[in-house]
Amino acid sequence: MSGAVAVIGSANADLVVEVERRPLGGETILGSDLVTSPGGKGANQAAAAGRAGGEVTFVGCVGADASGDLLVDSLTRAGVATDALRRVDAPTGNALIVVTPDGENSIIVSPGANAHVTPALVDDAADAWRGAAVVVLQLEIPLETVRHVAVAASGAGSRVMVNLAPAASVPAEVIAAADPLVVNESEAAFLLGVEPDALPADPGAVVRALFGLGARSVVVTLGAAGAWVAEESRDAVHVPALKVTPVDTTGAGDGFVGAMAARLAAGDSLVAAARVATRFAGLAVQRRGAQDSYPSPGELAGEAAD
Ligand code: RIB
Repeated sequence: MSGAVAVIGSANADLVVEVERRPLGGETILGSDLVTSPGGKGANQAAAAGRAGGEVTFVGCVGADASGDLLVDSLTRAGVATDALRRVDAPTGNALIVVTPDGENSIIVSPGANAHVTPALVDDAADAWRGAAVVVLQLEIPLETVRHVAVAASGAGSRVMVNLAPAASVPAEVIAAADPLVVNESEAAFLLGVEPDALPADPGAVVRALFGLGARSVVVTLGAAGAWVAEESRDAVHVPALKVTPVDTTGAGDGFVGAMAARLAAGDSLVAAARVATRFAGLAVQRRGAQDSYPSPGELAGEAAD
């Protein structure tokens, strides 16, 4: 098994407008000038793993268009191998994003080329992910592909990270392969079949319920409150976030996942990896954009040395 990280997932051009507030239904409001920047949960996680020092390959699809070029360039600058990033006959995925002054966002994804990340396509690129120490999955590509890779990669001895974002129902085999399952609070509520405000206040109860679904280890991200991290035989450990003022939280969760993947591949424990990942996300929210907000390895190391 290599020390490498393979991310199988989406790549989007993020079309971002800053607004004072979200528009109501039927309402038109004015926002900032439009900014186009590299995004997509899968590509973001790959870029973050690269910036956190991992040896990383990205498996996905973009179109033969300028947005595809933007994604290839950003991943390459993050040190990610793009040999298994296919150009297909469809437009690169787009994400329509509004960001409010508190740094929060609302996102609509138009999948485009991401719909071409089929089981057949990833099998054609199997050299890029079979044998990786850590294989990372999220849910902006067809769910049959997520299931296919989760089963194959865990069966072959890779550690499979499943980020259940955006929230969707997945086959039990996907949760059973997850080591860790990474969810935020609303994704945890979705999985457990409750409204977000009905999630138990006791993090131990949330983590136990997620283990009850079959996950091998669990990470619940809490934004500014950090994360809860649990391996099955142990109690949940709280990892605090950096205390910062966010300007844009877009891609911060993906940054957490990618940085964690890089550290797990390097041999860190889940808790140690989560400590680096929270630092990574805390640095990212202080800048605008997703991949464009990620710290360099030097910036991350500087924070880690504090
Ligand atoms: O998680 C943030 C990402 O979600 C954005 O970059 C956007 O492309 C969507 O995939």
